[in-house]
Amino acid sequence: MLSKGSSFITLSIYNKHDILNLLDTISTFDDQNLKRFIPNKKKLIANLFYEPSTRTSSSFYAAATYLGHEVLSINNVQYSSVAKGETLEDTIRTLASFVHCIVLRHPEEGAAKRAAQVSTVPVINAGDGVGEHPTQTLLDLYTIYKHYGRLDGLIVTLMGDHKYGRTIHSLVQALDLFDTKINLIGPIDLKLPKKLYKERYLESVELTANIAMLTDVLYMTRVQRERGAQGHYALTRLDAENLPDNSIVMHPLPRVDELGDWFDTDPRAKYFEQMSNGLAVRKFLLDRILG
Ligand code: CP
Repeated sequence: MLSKGSSFITLSIYNKHDILNLLDTISTFDDQNLKRFIPNKKKLIANLFYEPSTRTSSSFYAAATYLGHEVLSINNVQYSSVAKGETLEDTIRTLASFVHCIVLRHPEEGAAKRAAQVSTVPVINAGDGVGEHPTQTLLDLYTIYKHYGRLDGLIVTLMGDHKYGRTIHSLVQALDLFDTKINLIGPIDLKLPKKLYKERYLESVELTANIAMLTDVLYMTRVQRERGAQGHYALTRLDAENLPDNSIVMHPLPRVDELGDWFDTDPRAKYFEQMSNGLAVRKFLLDRILG
């Protein structure tokens, strides 16, 4: 179980009970009451981002600051020794000798695991290429759990780029622990990798009325064009009409053209609340890992 000094690389090592335990604990961080945090136990956290980020990097920065810690931000790696050809391993060894924890985003799948293997301090996976994005999944699950009070018995429709979308790769594995029905909607060329695919998933190239009408959670993602993905899909006004009144629509953000801002005022639009739940999740993770 996640404890002081642990790295946080993947959710795949946790069982259903562990995840529910994490989600219940996250709710204790879901407020602005920071009185229990003691500033003189200050730690230094490296935010090491080899890929662009707004939400993950800034919410880790904010979480660390609210907890009374300080952050060393390296998000312009072209101005670090990476530009001279330094390996990820040597960069991690260097930072690990200065800081108490490293939050890493990297374009290569498996990079966070490699980093954790050479690091003397905990590593948190903030997205490793097309691999995983476990802290995003924790906030996704938390958002669903907060809304429905459960994860079992839900129909979750994932609409987007399942091939390259790391948020999807982490989310399907976590949802699989629960009694969920999963629908995969997206272009034929952007199907979920075989290693993650389960026979029980329903696949479709479009969000049919039948699928939409039975959906509890519609989770949308963008086409990962920076990874070579191509394709087009978007939530239409007809889709929105077909979705139940008590359903929710989520998106890890950033969005491009798959989710128009015309939907933002719909009571089912949950993506901004989802994004803001990232702060509680990252406060929880840093608190748990740094002790
Ligand atoms: N959801 C997410 O990871 O957003 P950023 O890329 O802005 O961090």
